[in-house]
Amino acid sequence: MSRNMIAGNWKMNTLPSEGTELAQAVIAANSKPNCKVVFGVPAVQLAQIKELTSKHDNYFVAAQNCHHEDSGAYTGEISAPMLADLGIDYVILGHSERRDYFGENDELIAKKVRKVLDNGMLPIYCCGEKLDVREAGNHEVLVGQQIKTALFDLSAEDFGKVVIAYEPVWAIGTGVTASPEQAQDMHAYIREIISVQYGKEVAARTTILYGGSMKPANAADLIAKPDVDGGLVGGASLKAELFKDIVAAG
Ligand code: PGA
Repeated sequence: MSRNMIAGNWKMNTLPSEGTELAQAVIAANSKPNCKVVFGVPAVQLAQIKELTSKHDNYFVAAQNCHHEDSGAYTGEISAPMLADLGIDYVILGHSERRDYFGENDELIAKKVRKVLDNGMLPIYCCGEKLDVREAGNHEVLVGQQIKTALFDLSAEDFGKVVIAYEPVWAIGTGVTASPEQAQDMHAYIREIISVQYGKEVAARTTILYGGSMKPANAADLIAKPDVDGGLVGGASLKAELFKDIVAAG
């Protein structure tokens, strides 16, 4: 089975009255995509986008976060069982914006990963270094640490359900994209540490996405690299005419 996936991350953009039309336009342009396509939508649109994607093969819906407890006095939060009850397929976890603006660390994200898996959904785990870390040459060490801390306590069976998104923070929303070679080098490194921990077969099956200013002009070159299995797309996922072309490249 193909590892390829294109996931859109709408972040805190689009109104409920706009979301269905956006997703529908992408589906209309690629009614039989070659890869899995995921819409990562604001919580208030999960139900409506799930209703739409459930009618189309290879289209799925993702939440952008969840709480690490099942229920309780956590005003404003949304739990994994709530998402599972809506039939949500994937949950994006550990995005750099969650780490930076909401103080999430690998230990907390590990708990969320556990909850998502326990509730029958699939985590999309985001990792990636900031510019100073890359400039100091420590990007592999840092990304390796993020992955080991948040994921490597999982069984091989559970790990096999995780999608990894490598998103260098210096490339997110900046218009600066990692070169296909930079992406490939990091993805190969990630696949290598997975291989050491879980074996070659699990490593070969793991979907590893690139994220950071992916657009129609660079998507095909990035995805052509052997260890780049698709993209997690922010800004360009908000315009159907851009996202549909990235889906076509997947
Ligand atoms: P971007 O965002 O495509 O706008 O750079 C990617 C992301 O944050 O997932």
